Amino acid sequence: MNLPTESGVDVVTVSLWVLLVLVVVKVVNLVKNFQDHVRALEKFPGPPRHWLLGHVHKLYPPDETGALKFTNELTAEYVYAFPLWFGPIGFLNTCHPEYAKTILATTEPKDEVVYRFIKPWIGDGLLVSHGQKWFRNRRLLTPAFHFGVLQPYTRIFSDSTNIMMAKWKQQGAGALISVFDDVSLMTLDSMLKCALTVDSNCQVDRKQNPYVSAVFGLGKLAVQRFLFFPLHSDLIYYFTPMGYRFRKLCRLVHQHSETVIRERRQALKHQEGHQDSPNQGKKYLDFLDILLKTKDEDGNGLSDAEIRDEVDTFMFEGHDTTASGLSWTLYNLARHPEYQERCRQEARNVLEGRSEVTSPDLPKLSYITMCIKESLRLHTTVPGVGRKLTKEITFPDGKTLPAGSNVGVSPWNIHHNPHVWKDPKVYDPSRFLPENSKGRHSHAFLPFSAGPRNCIGQHFAMNELKTAVALIMQSFRLTVDENHIPTAANSLVLKAAEPGLFLKVMALD
Ligand code: HEM
Repeated sequence: MNLPTESGVDVVTVSLWVLLVLVVVKVVNLVKNFQDHVRALEKFPGPPRHWLLGHVHKLYPPDETGALKFTNELTAEYVYAFPLWFGPIGFLNTCHPEYAKTILATTEPKDEVVYRFIKPWIGDGLLVSHGQKWFRNRRLLTPAFHFGVLQPYTRIFSDSTNIMMAKWKQQGAGALISVFDDVSLMTLDSMLKCALTVDSNCQVDRKQNPYVSAVFGLGKLAVQRFLFFPLHSDLIYYFTPMGYRFRKLCRLVHQHSETVIRERRQALKHQEGHQDSPNQGKKYLDFLDILLKTKDEDGNGLSDAEIRDEVDTFMFEGHDTTASGLSWTLYNLARHPEYQERCRQEARNVLEGRSEVTSPDLPKLSYITMCIKESLRLHTTVPGVGRKLTKEITFPDGKTLPAGSNVGVSPWNIHHNPHVWKDPKVYDPSRFLPENSKGRHSHAFLPFSAGPRNCIGQHFAMNELKTAVALIMQSFRLTVDENHIPTAANSLVLKAAEPGLFLKVMALD
């Protein structure tokens, strides 16, 4: 029943009019924001776009035949930056060190496009948190990556590499191995030992360990979602079998982390009261020990929920990235026997047949380090990172981008920018000789990003890479199989498109 007001106008009619006005105001605002967004991006020259799709059709597949190639061609043409459009959503892709430096000097929050796919897994850990929370936790976590803490991990990296090499030996001379499969298990094995002192035996028996299977499963599902645009919608994803499985695996991983944290907290309490506790004999501090003990200036530590997010972040960010870095380094050395031989000579001189790399060995592996760096350049592990601006930003040439804009830094494009690197497609470790590095822009080489939000795990990762490459070079010769030339593909980190990356491994006497 419509109730007339004193003036005779009924309430429903008035409500409908108010609603209509609100809807119109909202639509006008949306259109205006969209026009502002388009105008802001149009200040930057870029490729023509389809009225509906934007550049989506050019960015598929996200590999060297699609997005990675297309954006490198645009980099050669536009030099500094160019807009890219996913339908109506555009962002500025920056591909030059000067532009990257401006963005990476800020602590602007991560964009909401890619990171939200992994947020249900890694929560509000260091990779995705922002503002005061990020600032406090970055300070609390930094001691976990101190030189002294990382030192004993070289033994763990050596052990994990030795297990992988034993598997290769068993497969016989000249066996064709699927590099990413073996190397990912190896880096996850190391990460579980360094972060949680968990010996999962995952390299030998992966399927027996539900946690390890879940971490792999989550990584695969996140990539699937990233690659298939319709799944970007939270609503659609929620109702798909993949969405269901993702939530189930998240629960499993969270429960595992929570149990490990609870048990360790109890063990630490027990240890404080008992000098003869079993933990006293432990040879190294793992990340969890440090996270449980760290305190800010007010004496407050991290809550169990915060620690869980950080542990899950390390698992996500710490193993797949390093696996990519190592897999592509092995591939590049297999492609270039002359560089491989120099690495082998260096490894043999430094290790003298030892099966364990020690911390003092690492600075002596200078040629191997150059080969790893050149591989991180050519096969950039994290092809792109994104930010959502909360305030206007001004680039060195005076151009501005307003608050609310999405902006990306593409280490992949910067590393392949012919205005920054001579012959960018050529694998040439000598680029990283000290004399050839002089005068290079501080942001020309960005595998670990730069600025306040750079990779906190970069020394951990480089130590693991150097250890693994030295041990592998000492004991194996690697060759490519011409029937299996891989195509690099952006799967959040750089992997190889199906069927993957295969190498022949030959044990040396
Ligand atoms: C080759 C191996 C690695 C590469 C190439 C790499 C690369 C990167 C990059 C590019 C970022 C910036 C991401 C962004 O701005 O969105 C980053 C951040 C981060 N990385 Fe790594 N990473 C590697 C290994 C690791 C390892 C081993 C760990 C942990 C043990 C780790 C932990 C993190 C964390 C926690 C952040 C977020 C830092 C912050 O925002 O304060 N990374 N990494």
